Amino acid sequence: MSKVSPEIWTPASWRRLEARQQPNYRSPEDVEQVRNTLSGYPPLVFAQEARDLRRQLAQVAEGKAFLLQGGDCAESFSDFNANRIRDTFKVLLQMAVVLTFAGNMPVVKVARMAGQYAKPRSSDTETVDGVELPSYRGDIINGIEFTEAARQPDPDRMLTAYNQSAATLNLLRAFAQGGLADLHQVHGWNLSYLESNPQREKYAQLAERLQEALEFMAVCGVNSDNTPAIRETVLYTSHEALLLDYEQALTRTDSLTGKWYDCSAHMLWIGERTRQLDGAHVEFLSGVWNPIGVKVGPGMGTDELLQLIERLDPNNEPGRLTLITRMGADTLGDKLPALVQAVQREGRKVIWSTDPMHGNTVKASSGYKTRDFDKILREIRDFFSVHRAEGTHPGGIHLEMTGQHVTECTGGAWKISEEDLATCYETQCDPRLNADQVLELAFQLSDWLRSGRAG
Ligand code: PEP
Ligand code: CO
Repeated sequence: MSKVSPEIWTPASWRRLEARQQPNYRSPEDVEQVRNTLSGYPPLVFAQEARDLRRQLAQVAEGKAFLLQGGDCAESFSDFNANRIRDTFKVLLQMAVVLTFAGNMPVVKVARMAGQYAKPRSSDTETVDGVELPSYRGDIINGIEFTEAARQPDPDRMLTAYNQSAATLNLLRAFAQGGLADLHQVHGWNLSYLESNPQREKYAQLAERLQEALEFMAVCGVNSDNTPAIRETVLYTSHEALLLDYEQALTRTDSLTGKWYDCSAHMLWIGERTRQLDGAHVEFLSGVWNPIGVKVGPGMGTDELLQLIERLDPNNEPGRLTLITRMGADTLGDKLPALVQAVQREGRKVIWSTDPMHGNTVKASSGYKTRDFDKILREIRDFFSVHRAEGTHPGGIHLEMTGQHVTECTGGAWKISEEDLATCYETQCDPRLNADQVLELAFQLSDWLRSGRAG
């Protein structure tokens, strides 16, 4: 294993190593100028907040809480508005309340928002009708339109991404503390669209029971005036730390502890395509003190995983590292047990979370990328089964989802078929669960959480 000693880590030390999935900018001088500008801008999050999240994630690592991480596959510059932010916020909150109340488990909420703009691609170029252009890599890098001008990577897009992340975070903080997250509002978080969705009734009943519990507590003297947890919440932010020029520019030393934090988000993760042990992304995230995640695909071997854990969490601190498995429903049951056993054998205190989206992507005959709701559920069910069998905590879930009424994943209460996908297919990148599918998944998940075994 190639080891880079921690003494020589700097926010720029990744530059010595191979950095995959980076754009070919035309002018390195322009990139440097943007990096210098960003380095002078205020951090988007405060290091103490990242430490708070680490503390909460330590509870998850110890089996006392559950991590809910979700949001868009990719945020976009063109679809940037308050309603979308509000609806994703509500759908996260709704899912969290179902898991907390029906699943009986405290939930740590982390949004894939306010920075999720860079996408890894399987090919550097895309060919349409014989024309070959650079692939779309997310709005922070280039434009999605299939023209030469749009596909040219533009470093100024990093500044737009920073500004849009700042505005998104500002609204999320206002929602979290300004009344929208008040538990008395749970009825209003429902975005389920389908009248006949049986989950709607179930949610209405849950909201009713929660209101009664709140009234009872108020009679006992516990109310939103003296108990802020009733009227506000904390929603942390996260994204894939893919575009290293951007992440480097937002990395600062914390004035309280003198440690380095990547202040572009509370939590950052390394994607499946950039998790090489001797690669730039692992080097970069090894040196910041944020809680971090790493995607674990079907090709991950046990030795490789143990080396990665050693590299990213050498002090074995609960809350530091989340392993996000994304194996595919047909593979997880075969591959996961050996990995979990190896991690247990070594006494590693990681969080196991499941991303049931990225291993289940298929191309429909109509050409749309999609994922089947039943397969998504099956991967989660098997994830729970493996952890129950191994005596480990199925600690979290990582979803691509939206509060909008999209038709991107097949199945669920709307019984979306491959033919239906065209009705409302809006994603910039991968297919997301819609609000009804999220609600259905939340109730299923809460059953598995409560029963302590997969059904
Ligand atoms: C993602 O989370 O959007 C993603 C690209 O995932 P992965 O790295 O697991 O493919
Ligand atoms: Co995705």
